[in-house]
Amino acid sequence: MTGRHFLRLDDLSGVELEHLLDFALRLKGQPLPDAERPLAARTLAMIFEKVSTRTRVSFETAMHQLGGHAIFLGREHTQLGRGESIEDTARVLSSMVDIIMLRTHSHERLLSFASASRVPVINGLSDAFHPCQLLADLLTYRELRGELRGRTVAWLGDGGSNVCQSYILAAGLCDFQLRIATPPECRPDPELLAAHAERVSCGTDPRAMARGADLLVTDVWASMGQEREAARRQCLLQAYRVNAALFALAAPDALFLHCLPAHRGEEVDAEVLDGPRSAAWSAAENRLHAQKALLLWLLKGRMVDPAADSVAASVAASVTQAP
Ligand code: CP
Ligand code: NVA
Repeated sequence: MTGRHFLRLDDLSGVELEHLLDFALRLKGQPLPDAERPLAARTLAMIFEKVSTRTRVSFETAMHQLGGHAIFLGREHTQLGRGESIEDTARVLSSMVDIIMLRTHSHERLLSFASASRVPVINGLSDAFHPCQLLADLLTYRELRGELRGRTVAWLGDGGSNVCQSYILAAGLCDFQLRIATPPECRPDPELLAAHAERVSCGTDPRAMARGADLLVTDVWASMGQEREAARRQCLLQAYRVNAALFALAAPDALFLHCLPAHRGEEVDAEVLDGPRSAAWSAAENRLHAQKALLLWLLKGRMVDPAADSVAASVAASVTQAP
């Protein structure tokens, strides 16, 4: 195996995460000149076993802007769809490309893929985690409000969502308090909760959890793969919709985030999602900037030098060995 995988947010240390977010913000503010092609001749393979809009377009655009190339591989258009094993697929692809992004159903399948890959693997979403979304969310809060350290985040809705479980890891890495409001049937993985009990609390009262929070976050009530449970989840989660009344309980400058796609009138009301303190749209754009930093870090071996005059100079000076 060459380099590191990015399968969960805590595959980065807190310090690395901080550097990566700084790097992404600088890259957003000072895009590389067209002549700079730090990932020239590098190829990203993107395997999607579930559909995507943002993840696909942001990774493909990121590779293009950095001078590299991205290949889209939908399950139905590859031999995976005809039963080739995930390990054999990883072995073959990683003998040809430099880095691979996989969006798949079970986190175990992602781990099997990563263990057979010779190149870094990025989790583009599994049932358990969505770390790339967290990079964008954390970047967005930092850009609009500053550090999350010492602040309070309220999660309202499906506590078992891959995004919520990624927030649990973020709470430890970024040192914020996370309050999860969710029905007993939708609680996050108990082991994950227990491991982060110092910073994460979980209860059933959305109003109590939202009160005074600096950031309110939610996700769809039925994630991809849970379509058959959608009706039951609709009933369970009705009281957790993020509406104006719930948002009004948060801190006066609180932001709202949603990974998107959203269902207006279900997990969030339109006036919140489309309102002035919704940062969901900025976070969607920030998928691109955060993932450019991630790709450069995984492929070029280090973050931008904070002392460098320009991002371009620092990227050009990056070592070529992987972290
Ligand atoms: N938030 C997110 O991952 O969106 P897509 O499913 O469109 O990639
Ligand atoms: N929890 C959602 C996130 C979509 C980006 C899902 O897995 O479908």
